[in-house]
Amino acid sequence: MSENILKDRRVLLIIGGGIAAYKCLELIRRLKERGAAVRAIMTKASHEFVTPLSVSSLTGDKVYTDLFSLTDEAEMGHIELSRDADLLVVAPATADIMAKMANGLANDLASTALLATDKKVLIAPAMNVRMWTHRATQRNFETLLADGVDFIGPNEGDMACGEYGPGRMAEPAEILAAIEAHFSELAYPGGGPLKGKRILITSGPTHEPIDPVRYLANRSSGKQGYAIAQAVARLGAETVLVSGPTILPDPPGVTVTRVETAREMLAACEAALPADIAICAAAVADWRVASDAEQKLKKAPGEQAPALALVENPDILATLSQMKGKRPALVVGFAAETEKVIEHATAKRQRKGCDWIVANDVSPATGVMGGDLNTVHLITREGQEDWPLLPKQAVAERLARRIADHFVTSKAAE
Ligand code: C5P
Repeated sequence: MSENILKDRRVLLIIGGGIAAYKCLELIRRLKERGAAVRAIMTKASHEFVTPLSVSSLTGDKVYTDLFSLTDEAEMGHIELSRDADLLVVAPATADIMAKMANGLANDLASTALLATDKKVLIAPAMNVRMWTHRATQRNFETLLADGVDFIGPNEGDMACGEYGPGRMAEPAEILAAIEAHFSELAYPGGGPLKGKRILITSGPTHEPIDPVRYLANRSSGKQGYAIAQAVARLGAETVLVSGPTILPDPPGVTVTRVETAREMLAACEAALPADIAICAAAVADWRVASDAEQKLKKAPGEQAPALALVENPDILATLSQMKGKRPALVVGFAAETEKVIEHATAKRQRKGCDWIVANDVSPATGVMGGDLNTVHLITREGQEDWPLLPKQAVAERLARRIADHFVTSKAAE
């Protein structure tokens, strides 16, 4: 089975006329990035919010807009359009589209495709809070649920119209996660291969205070760890992500604990135990300032620069690996090396006591640091696996699948 659940899946996206239509562009981009084929139908009203040119540039296909266009019908009839898709997604789903769907109306291409389909329909409502809470919309909502339509959102929050409440369209990342969950469910009926496993992941840098306003840190973005958290969650794992300070949004379906320092990260990891698997992808600061000042350090004319005394931070990977009783069954560490990658990573695996090390060459010539691609080697007790050059997302997916396979194999060996 493909590691990427969206690869070659055909999604028919129906874009309704709401201010949230702009978010569709991001959704299309993300679906395409993950290998899905996206076709779009735009309602007439949606043209007021986003142009067919933007949509077709991103889908790489023409945009279907008019039920009675002779060329459209000749190239791909409206029935075929909805039958050809693996999934129909309506985003934004306005009150009007929901009402049409609930009542079986078919007076434009969007509603006709929705009535003609025999595929799953996922809808992301977006409307003013009073329109959403209106009894008519709630009645339609109940009807559509009973008809087997899936919903994502609406979320609660500030609305473009200035009001607050439920009615905001779900974010593109949430819609994407719901689409992936649908295809995962099809691929793994009853749960993914990591269902029943609890996985703890560390990610990001740590910030070690010098005084109330300054800290020691590193350039870790957290991207690889977040991608791993998302990948294992997609395979059904109960996922806890302990993250240092990053600007990344919480991955959907993952419990996130945000910390600042290495000591907080260790405490959060210990609190998250027991876990079946621990993956330490964080770039934890090796040292912290021995005694961080309570007040901001001030410079005074003629005075020497303060000397910072450092003390060692706890090693979270080593602590988890060498734990008695609560040690996760599989502990995975990372090793970023600039020379003798395999030799150093192999020694690190033994020194820290973890089961696997994901080693990568981060010497400047590789462009791995800050880049989107990575070449990694998986070091296990049995030896070394050299993986090809892959996007970091794909490294995460491959690692998630490798972990799932490991548990299948070790269960079979019992
Ligand atoms: O010792 P080094 O930093 O090279 O080891 C890298 C591995 O150890 C990574 O998996 C990292 O998350 C983990 N680590 C840790 N706590 C530390 C230092 C590193 O968990 N204090």
